[in-house]
Amino acid sequence: MNSKITAHNKSKNQSDVEKTGDVNKPFLYQSHAQYQAILPEYMFDGMSDLDIASADLNKMVSARPGPVALIDCGAGPGRIWNSLNSNITQITAVEPNRGMWNPNLPARASYVESDAFEYLRSFPANNRVITFLWSINYPLLKFFECYDGTLKHLVRHNPEKGDAECRQTVRDVLQRNSGSDFYIIIFDDSSEEQQFVTKIWENVAQFPFNDRAYTRDLLLEEMQRYATAHDADLIVKHYSGFADYGKSDMANQRLLNFHLRGHFNDDNKTLLAVSAFLSQYSNGDIIKVPAGMYVIKLLHGKGRCAH
Ligand SMILES: C[S@@+](CC[C@H](N)C(=O)[O-])C[C@H]1O[C@@H](n2cnc3c(N)ncnc32)[C@H](O)[C@@H]1O
Repeated sequence: MNSKITAHNKSKNQSDVEKTGDVNKPFLYQSHAQYQAILPEYMFDGMSDLDIASADLNKMVSARPGPVALIDCGAGPGRIWNSLNSNITQITAVEPNRGMWNPNLPARASYVESDAFEYLRSFPANNRVITFLWSINYPLLKFFECYDGTLKHLVRHNPEKGDAECRQTVRDVLQRNSGSDFYIIIFDDSSEEQQFVTKIWENVAQFPFNDRAYTRDLLLEEMQRYATAHDADLIVKHYSGFADYGKSDMANQRLLNFHLRGHFNDDNKTLLAVSAFLSQYSNGDIIKVPAGMYVIKLLHGKGRCAH
């Protein structure tokens, strides 16, 4: 895997594309402002995904003695940082897409431009908290496929080779950061929202081994293997809730330009399918689509006291 690892304290020279919050354009992780505008809000029993993550993380770091360094992998604009407690004295945001860098980051945070696994392999440590909030599927999927910049051409790698290299990388990352706790949020492929998204994407390309959950299951197998060998706890919790897509026009744009990345905006069949899908979930004039997520925790030593 080729990727550069560059550290920066502030992102300067933000280009115009990084500043726009336009939901009517395909979203390709080039703009933190567009990301915040286009992202539906995910709610689980009255709590947002970020409420759940910050409560969990604050409990995890409180169980550790002294200051904690957090590595936020695929951090984007760092939506969670302001709700994390002061035991976290240093946040390293590993984010390969510079457009996603938040120019107003808090003093304790700094960005590194890198693939997450590459960074964790190159700069390992055994005493950190490592988070992947809605981001781990990207470094995992890189072993199986890559898109060109336009997303028009998906290049698939040999799946057996991808599987072997991906597993080896996950093993290396876990081994080299042995003693660090992991906190991961990953989407639930079986939710109504993601089943629909999967069905549409399958019209252009199959997922590894025809299974959208393949990368998550691979990750969990390797994490369980590690936990068993290292007397660590692997805890997986499922949350059911909904994604608030807003009003109908906005909802259509969000689904088409966020989850479907603008790839199908000229395809009438998909446009009709998206409208029909969303209209089932209209509640008053707001569209709330059933959605789910998994929280995965890998805990060592003192971090386990909190659970
Ligand atoms: C859905 S966003 C999540 C952002 C943030 N964690 C949040 O919860 O708002 C996924 C993030 O993963 C980043 N990403 C993509 N490929 C990555 C990779 N190989 N390694 C690390 N992060 C990656 C994207 O640029 C994007 O910022």
